[in-house]
Amino acid sequence: MKAIGVSIIGCGSAAPKQVMTNDDLSLLVETSDEWIRTRTGIRQRHLATTDSSLSELSAQAAREAIAMAGLTPGDMDLIILATSTADDLFGSAAKVQHLLEAEQAVAFDLTAACSGFVFGLITAAQFIRTGVYKNVLVIGADLLSRWVDWSDRNTCVLFGDGAGAVVCQGIPDHDHLLGFAMYSDGKQHDALNLGYHGTDKGLKEGVTINQGTYQPITMKGRDVYRFAVEKVPEVIEKALFNARLATDDIDWLILHQANQRIIDAVAKRLKIPAQKVIANLDKYGNTSAASIPLALDEAIREGKIQSGDVVATSGFGAGLTWGAAIFRWGV
Ligand code: UT7
Repeated sequence: MKAIGVSIIGCGSAAPKQVMTNDDLSLLVETSDEWIRTRTGIRQRHLATTDSSLSELSAQAAREAIAMAGLTPGDMDLIILATSTADDLFGSAAKVQHLLEAEQAVAFDLTAACSGFVFGLITAAQFIRTGVYKNVLVIGADLLSRWVDWSDRNTCVLFGDGAGAVVCQGIPDHDHLLGFAMYSDGKQHDALNLGYHGTDKGLKEGVTINQGTYQPITMKGRDVYRFAVEKVPEVIEKALFNARLATDDIDWLILHQANQRIIDAVAKRLKIPAQKVIANLDKYGNTSAASIPLALDEAIREGKIQSGDVVATSGFGAGLTWGAAIFRWGV
């Protein structure tokens, strides 16, 4: 039997039309364009309109990815939706499957915060390599605007909404997912949270439950910054080692778009020149699971990333979780 590998053959992205600039934010909280730009590199972010949904934005990105792959939604066997902000806590992947009319596909959500897309891509590869599924759609999408405290300047200036998607396909004898590595560290769980809080409610003598909802994002910014700058180069090196590649073999570096200073520090540590580094967080802010496929899609459509190029991606964030995937783009 021929070995089956993974090729990544289509991508797409979508961002809501509403835009909030740094200057707009300075009217909401005590901040300035100068502070946000110099500390993060962000200039503006797109925010979901009141009538939009995560499922619809995801489907929009997915349609583009499926079209670029030269396939139809009906060709999809599996849909993995990486998100922390599903429309429904039971999951939104099946709703996306319905919106796409991808009738053959089984769909599920995967939650790993800002590492979600990378974890989703690696998960997709396992189903493809075992020969279980041929065409797998991986979507990274988040609407963090729903969960940001818009009076907290420490967090509200950072995040934006978006969706990105790729289509992975099984191919004989080649594997374009060249290497990967994934990690979690629950000890540092408190560094970045969108946690549940509730109040106790007695139902009868001896039976008390707790009911509530999720509370806005809290983050120990400096701790997460330090974690990212230390762990991201390590995980990329590990993925390169698994791929039997050297840093010089990387054509493009696409990190989770959280902070331009993190991107620059990681590139510097890995000695990857600035012209190989892809960044678009100035326009979108931190879009969590969407940030890597959003940047990938933009770079491919601009003609920067060409078929055959080696792309190193790394996601990192809440959990804490972090991971890297090195792949060759295209057929
Ligand atoms: O997607 C998940 C991964 N998340 C990340 O990777 C985020 C990682 N962390 C970061 O990117 C950075 O830590 C931040 C951008 C969040 C913050 O930058 P920083 O250079 O670490 O700033 P800081 O938190 O140390 O704050 C410096 C000062 C503080 O004032 P004091 O205490 O020195 O007087 C803050 O209160 O800046 C203040 N500050 C602000 N000032 C104006 C915090 N937020 C703002 C703001 N505007 N929006």
